[in-house]
Amino acid sequence: MTSSTETLLKDDFADAVIEGLSQRRKVIPARYFYDRKGSELFEAITALPEYYPTRTETALLDAHAPEIGRIAGPGKVVVEFGSGSSMKTPVFVEAVRAAAYVPIDISADFLRDAAAGLSRALPDLDILPVAADFTKPIALPRSVEGRSMIGFFPGSTIGNLSHAAAVDLLRAFRITLGADPWLAIGIDLRKNPRLIEAAYDDAAGVTAAFNLNLLARVNRELGGDIPLDAFEHHAVWNDDLGRIEMHLAATRDVRFHAAGETFFLRDGETIHTENSHKYMIEETRLLARAAGWQPIRYWTDARDLFSLHLWRGGGGAMEP
Ligand code: TRP
Repeated sequence: MTSSTETLLKDDFADAVIEGLSQRRKVIPARYFYDRKGSELFEAITALPEYYPTRTETALLDAHAPEIGRIAGPGKVVVEFGSGSSMKTPVFVEAVRAAAYVPIDISADFLRDAAAGLSRALPDLDILPVAADFTKPIALPRSVEGRSMIGFFPGSTIGNLSHAAAVDLLRAFRITLGADPWLAIGIDLRKNPRLIEAAYDDAAGVTAAFNLNLLARVNRELGGDIPLDAFEHHAVWNDDLGRIEMHLAATRDVRFHAAGETFFLRDGETIHTENSHKYMIEETRLLARAAGWQPIRYWTDARDLFSLHLWRGGGGAMEP
């Protein structure tokens, strides 16, 4: 990355922090979680005993990705939204017998790592990385134009969006994926809130460290003096909105500086950092249809913790 790009990104972070902490209900956008330290901590979260999504989805892919390949047909171009550095990607790409792999990510660094990892696992695969913002419809490389594509969106990342934003994103995917679009998507299911809260507030404190790293990052990168011991991680199930909310809660009245501004939080006031929506199967079908997708099949684990879906696009008949 050039230093001018870095400066731009830093300004972006500063603007987001100033704007978010100036609200009455304070927020810092979740996209800033994933610096190097944050990415390492997230990696550790995926291995926690309480964090069921990663291992459950991996088992679903191991068991059912070959069937996805049979239903959608072999020789598809796999388009992954958010570059996969995880082990799920080679399993999926191999099981569907993909003709090519197109990872899309806004971060050129993540993209490079993902492409390198995958070419090691599958040396014969044609890999065509695209650095872009996939929340809008985008043009894919000329060499895959007109070929049949299947999107891959694991990790229940869709759950980190509001319902309205999720519909917009899934429409954008459908348009990006051309005339005969397919989508394989992992969606975490609504379940006993105690299980969900444990997954987002583990006994070892890794998720707390992940959330608090956001404040440490403000201190490191934006000249902040936030006393980290004045904040604690809260993971709260919001039953009305069907989501687990992540907050950083002040444990006393606290004043600090960041990005050249002064901020104040009262004891108990929180900074909202992330949401993770959980769906019922009926809701996943509504979500698909609202975005112009037709649900084809889905698979769940024996405990109904997580779901893997295969959807097909409207075959050109749908309006964007
Ligand atoms: N996509 C993940 C999820 O919602 C991200 C995540 C896991 C996360 N644990 C977190 C985000 C804790 C913020 C805080 O499951």
